[in-house]
Amino acid sequence: MLIQLIQLKKTFCENLSQVKTLEDLRILKINFLGRRGKLTLFLREISTFPKGERPSMGRQANFLKQKIEAEIKVKVREFEKKEIETKLKKEWIDVTLPAPKQSLGYLHPITKVARIIETIFSQMGFEKVCGPEIETEYYNFDALNIPESHPARDMWDTFWLKRDANIRMHTNDTNKLLLRTHTSPMQIRYMETHQPPFRIIVPGKCFRHEATDASHEHTFYQVEGLMVGKNVTLVNLKAVLEGFVKSFFGKDLKIRWRPGYFPFVEPGFELDVTCQVCLGKGCSVCKKTGWVEVIPCGMVHPNVFKAAGFSKDKYQGFAFGMGLDRMAMMKYKINDIRLFHSGDLRFLKQF
Ligand code: PHE
Repeated sequence: MLIQLIQLKKTFCENLSQVKTLEDLRILKINFLGRRGKLTLFLREISTFPKGERPSMGRQANFLKQKIEAEIKVKVREFEKKEIETKLKKEWIDVTLPAPKQSLGYLHPITKVARIIETIFSQMGFEKVCGPEIETEYYNFDALNIPESHPARDMWDTFWLKRDANIRMHTNDTNKLLLRTHTSPMQIRYMETHQPPFRIIVPGKCFRHEATDASHEHTFYQVEGLMVGKNVTLVNLKAVLEGFVKSFFGKDLKIRWRPGYFPFVEPGFELDVTCQVCLGKGCSVCKKTGWVEVIPCGMVHPNVFKAAGFSKDKYQGFAFGMGLDRMAMMKYKINDIRLFHSGDLRFLKQF
């Protein structure tokens, strides 16, 4: 019997020396210690040995079992160590290398300019409010003294929308829907729910059915302004807008006031500044005139007050609607409005 045990040990040692992989080792373990393993069967047979031999055989066989288990464990660890070492060699990293640069986001020039404009007006006591980009024909046109037949509607050619019963609208009326062509509808919406005196600005996106060129886009931004009270006059309009232009450009620019026609103001004006792209020499942005209209404005028309529900001659006020894109073009000397929506990083990274 002892010879058998010694033989078992010898075979195990020989087999172990031939093990090349973890899988070989697993098989070896099963061959000796598994349910039908050589040593397991030997241990089972002990009960058939002569009584006197059993205790010492049992001890020796168990001793061999422990030895086999220990040697297998050692071998497993050896394999694991080797595996880690080869992995380390392959996946080596230099921890002293500088980390890849984190790229920072940029504010879009329109956002930057909107923030500057909002700050200047808030310092002059104007509150910021926002309005819907999908408007009704009534707020965008009729209430602003632009009836359906009025030729001025051509100035604001727009995108009309089909009503979809599944889309909940901000309004319950059945008026035709469109993408707002200007921020002026908010004049009416605000006056319907607020009593003068007040001063507001309304920054926002507008849309027009427009053939695009260097200074026209189908999607652009405006900042509407509205100041209404009992004694608001043209002098206030002039002071506010000239004060604004000075703060915005940080210098005294040449300004030009011209009469302008908008059905919702009377009288109406255009405030032009010297083109900052060419400094007045004439370029594609100013259409070779040296001037760029930046702030159309005027005194609120009595019909607009009427549409808002104010009684006749009770209040007066002024309104303006500056083009944010144009202001950005003037501030940063950008010569093509289409760059704003181009998504071109070479352009955007400059701000
Ligand atoms: N809403 C006008 C436009 O988009 C601009 C404007 C606003 C003019 C307020 C006068 C007063 O062209």
